[in-house]
Amino acid sequence: MDVMTDPGTTGRFGAYGGRYVPESLIPACHEIEAAFREAWSDTEFRGRLTMLLSVYAGRPTPLTPAWRLSRELGITLLLKREDLTHTGSHKINNVIGQALLAQRMGKRRILAETGAGQHGVATATAAALLGLEATVFMGERDIERQELNVLRMEVLGAEVVPVTSGSRTLKDACNEAMRHWVSSVDDSYYCIGSVMGPHPYPWMVREFQRVIGEEAREQCAAELPYGVPDYVVACIGGGSNAVGTFAGFVDTAARLVGVEAEGGAAATFGRAGVLHGFRSLVLQNDDGQVTEAHSVAAGLDYPGIGPEHAHLRDAGRARYETVNDDEVIRALRRLAHTEGILAALESSHALAWVIRAAESGGIAPGSTVMLTLSGRGDKDIASIKEML
Ligand SMILES: Cc1ncc(COP(=O)(O)O)c(C=O)c1O
Repeated sequence: MDVMTDPGTTGRFGAYGGRYVPESLIPACHEIEAAFREAWSDTEFRGRLTMLLSVYAGRPTPLTPAWRLSRELGITLLLKREDLTHTGSHKINNVIGQALLAQRMGKRRILAETGAGQHGVATATAAALLGLEATVFMGERDIERQELNVLRMEVLGAEVVPVTSGSRTLKDACNEAMRHWVSSVDDSYYCIGSVMGPHPYPWMVREFQRVIGEEAREQCAAELPYGVPDYVVACIGGGSNAVGTFAGFVDTAARLVGVEAEGGAAATFGRAGVLHGFRSLVLQNDDGQVTEAHSVAAGLDYPGIGPEHAHLRDAGRARYETVNDDEVIRALRRLAHTEGILAALESSHALAWVIRAAESGGIAPGSTVMLTLSGRGDKDIASIKEML
């Protein structure tokens, strides 16, 4: 099956992907694609990235058995601990890669959008590390619910620009970052935080995130009797931690499951359309207007899904499930109580599905499940308190 390969110069994943941007951004996309292709085949670039992921970001992250919860659920649950990276989520893997690329391209400033603030914090961090300026666009509503991350970005020296249009969440922050990129493309690099946007971003971000899946594959080989888990599960906003995880297992018999927020479930309820420079499954009304997404997790509050996920769904290689906010909060508390791990609300979506499936027989007793715990939950304490 032709999945998870190089999508070529058109950036197509089956019927999805591509490059739908204003004329003025086409040369910038070409320039980034050429720079990434060159960098990705340059052993020095790869060596520097691997070194920074190791000595700075804390890779490899452990694969932790969830001992007590596994017993309760009658399965073997292994957690890929992206929450233990520097800055507390998988976003750092992609951002260090893109920041190194921006530096190699001679750019002075990095632009980014952020929802939960984790991509913004990672961007501010990598910019400080490499001596670049950072400007982060964030919806006003997300600024309110992710106050801790806003403060972190500011202390790290980034400028946080509040976005007041639309639903004042991630979709609107993406619009604003793109608009700003058009007017500053000569000296600014747009660091997209997930497997979305125009080609080459969905492919490039997948390549930067595949480290999660590759490490997990090796760790599972050492941990599990058959080497490969029965299920590989991850939450989905745009889909970067999931795609990076799936990349390590796509050629195995493992069942790949992406878990979306019920109110932002583009893989489940979306139809083909164009959003933020790429064609994919998008939540829209009968007139083709993009509709608002709603989730307790700011990082999953997005009406689209990365184009490769849409293709994996059509190809039948991955399946996509939804969970609601209540199940997510319950899952977060259960993991905290049984394992002493406070997961991000985003990551708790993946866990909520595993709990539901294991308890209802959807996952057979005795199965092995590898779940990517994409981030830590400190940033969510205020939202969790409100929901209790
Ligand atoms: C901890 C965490 N997990 C998951 C996501 C969703 O992003 P993606 O689907 O690209 O992995 C976010 C986004 O902000 C996040 O902060």
